[in-house]
Amino acid sequence: AAKPTVSGVLLDWYDRHARDLPWRAQPGEPAADPYRVWLSEIMLQQTTVAAVKPYFARFTEVWPTVEALAEASEEDVMAAWAGLGYYSRARNLLMAAKAVGDLGGFPETEAELRRLPGVGEYTAAAIAAIAFGRRAVVVDANVERVVSRLFAIEEPLPKARRAIRAHADAITPDRRAGDFAQAMMDLGSQVCTTRAPQCLLCPLARFCEARTQEPERFPVKPPRK
Ligand code: ADE
Repeated sequence: AAKPTVSGVLLDWYDRHARDLPWRAQPGEPAADPYRVWLSEIMLQQTTVAAVKPYFARFTEVWPTVEALAEASEEDVMAAWAGLGYYSRARNLLMAAKAVGDLGGFPETEAELRRLPGVGEYTAAAIAAIAFGRRAVVVDANVERVVSRLFAIEEPLPKARRAIRAHADAITPDRRAGDFAQAMMDLGSQVCTTRAPQCLLCPLARFCEARTQEPERFPVKPPRK
């Protein structure tokens, strides 16, 4: 048998334990809808999954496609966003929807996605991988925590980000990069948590260099001045 790999083991875990989230491909669907992936990733930038869910449901009910959203008034979008916070996200959302309408659909590459208002490095990588199956290195705070523990990265944040990204790149598979990214997020939010990580339940424990130390030390915080 082939030697187990981090991505192989994690994808097997994801096939059994993935959270059922409304922006993910539903059973029988071949792929996630780029509009729903983009909308969810913008909402999730500074907001928890639990807080996002009702807003995501309402937005997709009122505006089921990016073309429909592009025709909305700023007033209606701001009203629907009320309560989510960071309101520049809502203004960028409408501008990006109009840009996607003008382009005739979502672009598929990270470089093109980054030209949309409100889409930065993380969000472009997430959309490219999750909606379009492109290989992209998706690093959010959950992934930072998982990777810094897997490789017991002693360098403190923010300097550690370069090493974290290089290690994340090295373990990202060529196939199913979107599922891999979401598996890392699910693992980080449900098993490899900031406090009291559940190493006994972790599919990656056998690969994890922090496991025999104190996993909670990672990622190492910058020294306080
Ligand atoms: N947080 C941000 N994006 C996410 C996603 N696609 N799945 C789970 N948590 C997330």
